[in-house]
Amino acid sequence: MKKNITAWLIDGPELKNVPKEYKAIWAKSVEEYKLKGRAGEIVLVLDGISPSILVGIGGDNNECDKMRAMKEAAQLLYETASKHKFERIEIGGAPKTACGLLEEALFDAEYKFKVGNKENNKTKIEFKIINSNASIKKRAKEISSVKSFARTLVDMPPSHKSPNKFAAVIRSEIKKRKLDRKIKMTIWDKNKLEKEKCNGILAVGKGSANPPMILRLDYVPRGAKGKIVLVGKGLIFDSGGLNLKTYEGMKTMKCDMAGAATVIGAGILAAYFGVKNSVTVFAGLAENMPGNAAFKPGDVIETRAGKTVEVLNTDAEGRLVLADLLNLAEAEKPNAIIDAATLTGACVVALGEEYAGLFSKDAKLSESIIRAAEQSGEAIWRMPMGRDFKEKLKGDISDLKNIGNRYGGASTAAEFLDEFIDRTPWAHLDIAGPAFREGKGKGRPNGATGFGIGMLLRFIEEWQ
Ligand code: BES
Ligand code: ZN
Ligand code: ZN
Repeated sequence: MKKNITAWLIDGPELKNVPKEYKAIWAKSVEEYKLKGRAGEIVLVLDGISPSILVGIGGDNNECDKMRAMKEAAQLLYETASKHKFERIEIGGAPKTACGLLEEALFDAEYKFKVGNKENNKTKIEFKIINSNASIKKRAKEISSVKSFARTLVDMPPSHKSPNKFAAVIRSEIKKRKLDRKIKMTIWDKNKLEKEKCNGILAVGKGSANPPMILRLDYVPRGAKGKIVLVGKGLIFDSGGLNLKTYEGMKTMKCDMAGAATVIGAGILAAYFGVKNSVTVFAGLAENMPGNAAFKPGDVIETRAGKTVEVLNTDAEGRLVLADLLNLAEAEKPNAIIDAATLTGACVVALGEEYAGLFSKDAKLSESIIRAAEQSGEAIWRMPMGRDFKEKLKGDISDLKNIGNRYGGASTAAEFLDEFIDRTPWAHLDIAGPAFREGKGKGRPNGATGFGIGMLLRFIEEWQ
């Protein structure tokens, strides 16, 4: 017999529609522990007919925060059940619209990163959500599994993911998921990048022994409706280059390819679910290192688009990579371009570690992304753009400089990217905060989070 436990999700202190055998005992616990039914609350109730768990799902007022509270509750539920060696949880009280996300978050909770083939010794817990069904669960499981793959890429030590190795891992993952007939993968190596005048990514990659590359994925369904291009910053490691980062600044910089992992994950899911829009992914893979061929402060680079950029700080490298990628993206003439990048520390200073910055001059596109993020329970916040920021980037000896001053750095970076977009609706997600967590929080595991994949999938499914 599996060791079973019943859990109930509570939104507020009142108990609604709970099984009658638990009613009195839970009411007592609510009073005793002063439960408000808020995110972060969890109580293991040991008296009564059999053990049970009460967990709060009340978020702040907006829709997105409610969904985020649901994800935290799932994580806490998993941790509590596994700590007490329960093997199966039956979960009640879930709102119908949140079942998919709840299932997803329960699968997510099993994720643990280990190098190589070392086994994940986390307990597998069976769970059954009363209001859910088999097809909801199946979809959630697939989303979570691709998210876990993307998290693995981010958590993987830099020693294990040079651009070459990274590309090999992606290729075998696509094959393993039997998507190699649906997704075409193309690599541009250093030679090809030179021929294609991708001097931004080439400059950034020069200081490393491992040459840069652009990885491209194409998914084109029969009778495709629209076309979306996703662009990802894939800095395998960002040491800052000659403008070397500090110990504190550098220690998590294996996560600087999270944007690439995010868009690749979204591309894989789009193909798996056979969405109606076609999706092209461009990931710019490079290592920003201070080797003897490294690009230097003062260098002027001619980007693929023809605009020249004076490099005043080699640590503002992501935008140089993205400049070339966005130029390639536009050439595809899509209906929308979205890039994801761990682009600026300034965005983390402005919004904290949970919120990503959304930068776009296109209202319809912004609204669609915000709606998708509400469904996926990922926190994003729209940030300003415009000439106030553009001003700072005017070059003295070139078209552009790669940095502004110390104020509004996330918006300045977004305006830099905007220079490489002509007419396509475009949005930029700065995920420097939420992509990677240093240290564990309540209901929030540490390391790679898979942030953005959920919202991009939902966006791709809806966009027209
Ligand atoms: N990869 C960093 C940004 C970053 C910071 C990502 C913290 C994740 C967590 C980026 O390349 C960078 O170094 N940006 C500089 C830009 C500055 C030199 C204008 C920064 O934010 O300090
Ligand atoms: Zn940097
Ligand atoms: Zn970087």
